[in-house]
Amino acid sequence: VKPLTGIALLAAVLALGACGHEEGQGAAPSAATANLVETGRYLAQAGDCAACHSVPGGVEYAGGRPVVTPYGSIYTTNLTPDAATGLGNWSAEDFWQALHNGRSKTLGLLYPAFPFTNFTKLSRADSDAIFAYLKSLPAARSPTPAAQMRFPYGFRPLMRVWRALYFRPGSYRPDAAKPASWNRGAYLVEGLGHCDACHSERNLLGAVKPASALQGGLMAGSGWYAPPIAGNQDPQLPRLLREGLSEHAVASGPMASVVYYSLQHLSAEDAQAIADYLGSLPAPASSRDQEARLVGTAEASLLANRGRNLYQKQCQDCHAADGSGKLPAYPALAGNPALLGPPVNAVRMIANGGFAPGTAGNPRPYGMPAFIGDLSDEDIAAVLTYVRSSWGNAAPPVSAVEVARDKPLPPW
Ligand code: HEC
Ligand code: HEC
Ligand code: HEC
Repeated sequence: VKPLTGIALLAAVLALGACGHEEGQGAAPSAATANLVETGRYLAQAGDCAACHSVPGGVEYAGGRPVVTPYGSIYTTNLTPDAATGLGNWSAEDFWQALHNGRSKTLGLLYPAFPFTNFTKLSRADSDAIFAYLKSLPAARSPTPAAQMRFPYGFRPLMRVWRALYFRPGSYRPDAAKPASWNRGAYLVEGLGHCDACHSERNLLGAVKPASALQGGLMAGSGWYAPPIAGNQDPQLPRLLREGLSEHAVASGPMASVVYYSLQHLSAEDAQAIADYLGSLPAPASSRDQEARLVGTAEASLLANRGRNLYQKQCQDCHAADGSGKLPAYPALAGNPALLGPPVNAVRMIANGGFAPGTAGNPRPYGMPAFIGDLSDEDIAAVLTYVRSSWGNAAPPVSAVEVARDKPLPPW
C-alpha cells in the first residue's frame, strides 16, 4: 500500500464516520455546528436583525413589524424556520441570495427598507452562520402582511430600475494597507451594522446619498436626526456603543434601540474596531453659515437669560449647575455633541422625556421626565438656547418656531 493511498483511505473512513454521525438518530449536534450557531447569533445581533424582525411582545424573529417609509409600509418577514410562513424551506443559498443580492425566494425583488445594500458586503461564511442560527430557533407560524405601498411603488419589478441606479452587489474587500482592526470596523460599520442607513441623507428615491454617508441626516420615518459619526474622535466611543452612555453622550430614541438590541452585545474588540474605523474617516465640514443667524442678537441673549432661570428651576437638579450631569444617572450637557447641529432630538427629549437603554454596563437607566405640559415652545427654545451656548457649548440659538416644527411626533 502506497502511503498516499493509505492517507486517502483513512480520510475516506473519517468522512464516512462524520456522515454517519450527522445522520445518526438523536445524535447531539457536533461541536462545529454548535460553534456555527453561536457565531451566527453574535452576527445576527451585530446586524440588529431582531429589532426589525420582531414586534414588541411578540416572538423574536417572527417578523410582522412595519417599517414606515415615505413610499409606504413594508412588513418584516418571519425569519424562524417555519415551513409555511418562515425560512423552513430555504437553503443557505436562498438566504445568501436575499442578503447578498436582495432577492427573495418567495417575494422576488426586496425593498431596500431591508438594508441589503449594506448586507451585500457580508462574507458567504457569515451569511451561512446567521442562517444556521436562524434555523436553530423554534419555528413560529406567523404570516407576513403584504407591503402597503403608495402607487406605483407596490409593483416590485420597479425595483429593477432602483437597483440599476443604486445597488452594486459585492462582498467587503479588505484594504491590505490598513490594520486588521480597521478592516473589521469597516466591515461592521458598512456591512452588518448598516450605520449609514440612519446616519446619512437620502435622495428622493430613498437611496443614501454617497457623499453624505455617515455625515448625519434626518431619518425619514421618525423625524429624529442622526448626527455625523464620521471622524468621531471620542475615546469613549466604544463605551457609548456597548453601554449606551459615556461621559459625553447618551444613546437616545432610535439609537437607544440600536444599542439595546445590537451594539451592547459587541465584544470589546469589535466596539474598538468600529471606533478605529469611524475615527479615521473625514469629519463633515460644519455649516457655520447657519450658526450666524441669531448668534449675538438681542433676541438671543434675552432667550438665553430666560433659559438660565428655567434651567435652574427645572433641569439643574439632575444635569448640575455646570452642566456636568451625574454619571451614570444623568448625562452631561456640557460638551455633549447631541446639543450641536439641528435641535430636533433635544426638543423631543425635553418635550417627551426618554430612557437610556438598559445594558450590562448601565443596567438600571434613569429617565428624563417629559416637560411638554410644563414648558411652552418659547420656554423650550429659551432653555435650549441657554444649554447650547453655556459651559463651552457653542451651538446657535433655537427659536420657538423651530420648537413648534420639531415637537409634533408621529405615533410611536
Ligand atoms: C431596518 C430593518 C431591518 C433590519 C435591521 C433587517 N431587516 Fe430583514 N427585512 C426587513 C424588511 C422590511 C424586509 C421585507 C422587505 C420586502 O418586503 O421587500 C426584510 C426581509 C428580509 C429577508 C427576506 C425574507 C423573505 O421571506 O423574503 C431576509 C432573509 C432578511 N430580511 C434577513 C435579515 C437579517 C439576517 C438581518 C440581520 C443581519 C435583517 N434582515 C435585518 C427589514 C430589516
Ligand atoms: C435606526 C437608526 C440608526 C442606526 C442603524 C444607527 N444609528 Fe447611531 N444614532 C441614531 C440617532 C437617531 C442618533 C441620535 C440620538 C442620540 O444622540 O442618541 C444616533 C446617535 C449615535 C451616536 C452619538 C453621536 C453623538 O454625537 O452624540 C453614535 C456614536 C452613533 N449613533 C453611532 C452609530 C453606529 C456606530 C452605528 C452602526 C453600528 C449606528 N449609530 C447605527 C440612529 C441610528
Ligand atoms: C429627573 C432628572 C432630569 C431632569 C429634571 C432633566 N433631565 Fe434631561 N436627562 C435626564 C436623563 C436620565 C437623560 C438621559 C435620557 C435618555 O437618554 O433617554 C436626560 C437627557 C437629556 C438630554 C439628551 C442628551 C443626549 O445626549 O441625548 C437633554 C438635551 C436634556 N436631558 C436636557 C434637559 C433639560 C433642558 C432639562 C430641563 C428642562 C432636563 N434635561 C431635565 C434626566 C433629567
